[in-house]
Amino acid sequence: MRMPLIAGNWKMNGSLSLVEEFGRAFAGVSLPVNVEVALMVPFPYLGAAAQALGETAVMVGAQTLSDRPAGAFTGEVSGAMLRECGARLVLVGHSERRALFGEDDAAVLARVQAALHEGLTPVLCVGETLEEREAGRTEAVVLGQLEAVVEALDATQRPRLIVAYEPVWAIGTGRTATPEQAQAVHAALRARLARHDEALAAGMRLLYGGSMKADNAAELLAQPDIDGGLVGGASLKVDDFLAICQSAG
Ligand code: PGA
Repeated sequence: MRMPLIAGNWKMNGSLSLVEEFGRAFAGVSLPVNVEVALMVPFPYLGAAAQALGETAVMVGAQTLSDRPAGAFTGEVSGAMLRECGARLVLVGHSERRALFGEDDAAVLARVQAALHEGLTPVLCVGETLEEREAGRTEAVVLGQLEAVVEALDATQRPRLIVAYEPVWAIGTGRTATPEQAQAVHAALRARLARHDEALAAGMRLLYGGSMKADNAAELLAQPDIDGGLVGGASLKVDDFLAICQSAG
């Protein structure tokens, strides 16, 4: 059985007071026992988030990491630093990193390897642009992004990955993939994983992201190959995020 994971991605948003608000809110509710929850916060808030959420079941994560372990790389943050500050997961290859910060498949793979090396769980993000979807290239794009990482990992590393399918045209646009569109891509991702190993495919969590909200989460999460969500905008409002977590149970 795959335990659903709801991960909030704050991107470059939030504040220390919002971290505190989430800490108080999550301390006061009981989450469904069969759901995992994580909050991916900006680097400076990691320590505070780990502390504020320490008594709750919510895991703390980061949004990217350096591909290097240490050294003269001004402005970069290593996986070891993330772990030391309480992060257990890290997003890798979010479409904003790919499009705005020039991360190609090789850069994404290097960051996945750096995360695994530090014992962090990488959440590998894949997704097509609208242009790619309209050209009928959705599967080619997302399976290519998946394979660029999976093929390079060994059989002990692969099960440690989580994958998030985020159609670029659905991110922050209010335009969500229909449950059928999302399920079709998730099924294609799982089928591709099965070419490597059936057990890997059966166990890998595939999250959906892209305008997931309290009012559409349940029908997306009801799809057989959707094992959770990566939630951007709606993860900045504690009530909305809590409602999504509850609907995953
Ligand atoms: P969104 O962002 O929920 O605001 O569309 C999702 C993401 O980019 O992770």
